[in-house]
Amino acid sequence: MNPLSLSNEQYEKVYERLTQTALEYLRSLNDLPSFPDLRGQQTEGMFHGSVPEHGLGVAALDDLETVIDGVRPGGPRFFGYVHGSGEPIAAAADLLASVLNQNVTSWRSSPSAATIERSVVGWLATMIGCPGFSGSLCGGGSSANLMGLAMAREARLPANESGVSNPGAIYASTEVHMSIGKAVALLGIGRDHLRLIPCDQEFRMRVDLLEEAIRRDVDAGIKPIAIVGSAGTVNTGSIDSLSGLATIAEDHGAWLHIDGAYGALAAIAKPENFLGIDRADSISLDPHKWLYQPIDCSCILYRMPARAQRAFSHSGDYTKSYFDDPVENFMFFDETIELSRRFRALKLWLSLRYHGVAKFREAIRNDLELASYFAGRVDAEPELERLAPVPLSAVCFRYVPKGEAAADQLDELNRQILPKVVRRRRVFLSNATINGHFALRICVVNHRSRRADLDEVVNEVLAVGRELAGQ
Ligand SMILES: Cc1ncc(COP(=O)(O)O)c(C=O)c1O
Repeated sequence: MNPLSLSNEQYEKVYERLTQTALEYLRSLNDLPSFPDLRGQQTEGMFHGSVPEHGLGVAALDDLETVIDGVRPGGPRFFGYVHGSGEPIAAAADLLASVLNQNVTSWRSSPSAATIERSVVGWLATMIGCPGFSGSLCGGGSSANLMGLAMAREARLPANESGVSNPGAIYASTEVHMSIGKAVALLGIGRDHLRLIPCDQEFRMRVDLLEEAIRRDVDAGIKPIAIVGSAGTVNTGSIDSLSGLATIAEDHGAWLHIDGAYGALAAIAKPENFLGIDRADSISLDPHKWLYQPIDCSCILYRMPARAQRAFSHSGDYTKSYFDDPVENFMFFDETIELSRRFRALKLWLSLRYHGVAKFREAIRNDLELASYFAGRVDAEPELERLAPVPLSAVCFRYVPKGEAAADQLDELNRQILPKVVRRRRVFLSNATINGHFALRICVVNHRSRRADLDEVVNEVLAVGRELAGQ
């Protein structure tokens, strides 16, 4: 018998205990503090022991409680970054996906899993108004953006065989997510060739300045490779004029990639805000953000699979398929960076079928309504100041004490407010830089939140702000 073999009874004990632990966590989620009561040194002490030479058996599970005590819970008062709340039906499917342990790299490696992924990707495309797009699931918006730009580069200035000799230029707004700068660097284009175009008052790319920048480059003999539009900037949720960008991209033969990691799924609820999205060549979107899926679950969509194949197909002999049916010959690894790929689609498939799209649409609308409610609370409060419009579900604001305060004092005061609010453990929020100033920021992509949870953010920021300002 293999030393790792277990009896059915042994499996059952572990799975029952795990299920119990998961259920207890879910039941307690509404009441858990929004941040663990721990410091860095304590966690090092808890988890930096040496690897056991001899196993503990079921007792190994005892420390799961300690793990849970140290997590940052995704409860109703979590409003940081752009972090989806983790839909439990999808989470259950994730356990099964690991048990099934499929390598979703081609049809032949897992007929049902590969077919489900292709189908679910088609659902996502249709849900955001881009029927006919295909694509694949991946680990995060950063990877999806990298793949989008890899396709763009290979379509406009191929470098897969001989390397980059002429980098060309990529255009995005000053509000673009950091993953774009990372992708441009990784692709050998170089961040010097990423043109950051200024935004208007609502943090959307200035289309007139984009056009000027492209013309300047073309006159200087630099080829425009791609325009990156944001469908929900990470700071303020601003949506670039997608139709305007599409027209310019078409005029100049540039690829249009839309970073919709944060916002594109809101097109399910507010399609009118995303007009032109269907004119993109590629789109990234993150079901692990605004479709509440457990991490990881991102998606890259593209209009032409041949472009993805051109960028990513590079097969060793051992991966060639010898089936003659086109469905059976399908290979994800020809269209993505990954070769071994996990069964991410199972959670989406199960949770979309369990709830139906209508309920997701309603949940997204609810988040939008909560953000607008919170913006109203900020606007009505003399000691709070809103720093940006709220096109989606992110609200940037700051505490302003009574009396006079210079801009740099406000930056410093709010910088101090943030960690104190987090350590009070009632609400979790994060920050942004708005027009060069420090902002507190909430982002509602949380199906557990209610108005009272946002009232709590107002109370906490006012309490800490007043304490620090001595008021
Ligand atoms: C607009 C935008 N793009 C890309 C990303 C990166 O996504 P991920 O964290 O899934 O890599 C984020 C993350 O918040 C984002 O808000």
